[in-house]
Amino acid sequence: MILETERLILRHWSEDDAEELYKYAKDPRVGPAAGWPVHTSTENSREIIRTTLSDKEIYAIVLKESGLPMGSIGLYHGGLAKNPDELELGYWIGVPYWGQGLVPEASMEMLRHAFEELGLNRVWCAYYEGNDKSKRVQEKLGFVFQCRMENVRVSALNETRVGYVNMLTKEKWLADRALQMADQGEKQ
Ligand SMILES: CC(C)(COP(=O)(O)OP(=O)(O)OC[C@H]1O[C@@H](n2cnc3c(N)ncnc32)[C@H](O)[C@@H]1OP(=O)(O)O)[C@@H](O)C(=O)NCCC(=O)NCCS
Repeated sequence: MILETERLILRHWSEDDAEELYKYAKDPRVGPAAGWPVHTSTENSREIIRTTLSDKEIYAIVLKESGLPMGSIGLYHGGLAKNPDELELGYWIGVPYWGQGLVPEASMEMLRHAFEELGLNRVWCAYYEGNDKSKRVQEKLGFVFQCRMENVRVSALNETRVGYVNMLTKEKWLADRALQMADQGEKQ
């Protein structure tokens, strides 16, 4: 499946993307904030494309302007989504692209896909203490705070952190979207 927004294409990862993936995933400001280690080589990135990023609901974030991937977004069965009508949203983007609202733009399309096409009723999303950028993304998307989790084991990094868990129901997503549409209508 290919998803599209104004500035982005969301499509599956290919092993040919390994070099671009490594370019951004080797930066220590990216993976560790999300709980995974920096990539160590193009070959390491290729292996991660073959394994972790090969899931059906994981997408490369591709900038239309360049046609190249520079981030990743996906819906997956993390520890938070316990029922068949729930999944967890995860995302990251390369540092040169931070601050342009690109992950919120990709996430809005992923949420539409989740609720309208996958038939989900709840999407979970979390961030680790101190990740104010991700907290802000989740606020902008309308996620609602559920709980603070002490002692979250981040096994890939051999660390223990504090986590903040948010959730968005289909009802709230529909209500927020109706408000946004009404707002846009008023401005026109
Ligand atoms: C969190 C992340 C996905 C945000 O993506 P993004 O496309 O930059 O999102 P936005 O443009 O909406 O920026 C979100 C907030 O980050 C902050 N921010 C943006 N650019 C920044 C920069 N260059 N330096 C520091 N903070 C910045 C701002 O507070 C912004 O909020 P605002 O729009 O209200 O000003 C991105 O920073 C990232 O990939 N971080 C590393 C991986 C990660 O943390 N993943 C999430 C794990 S839960």
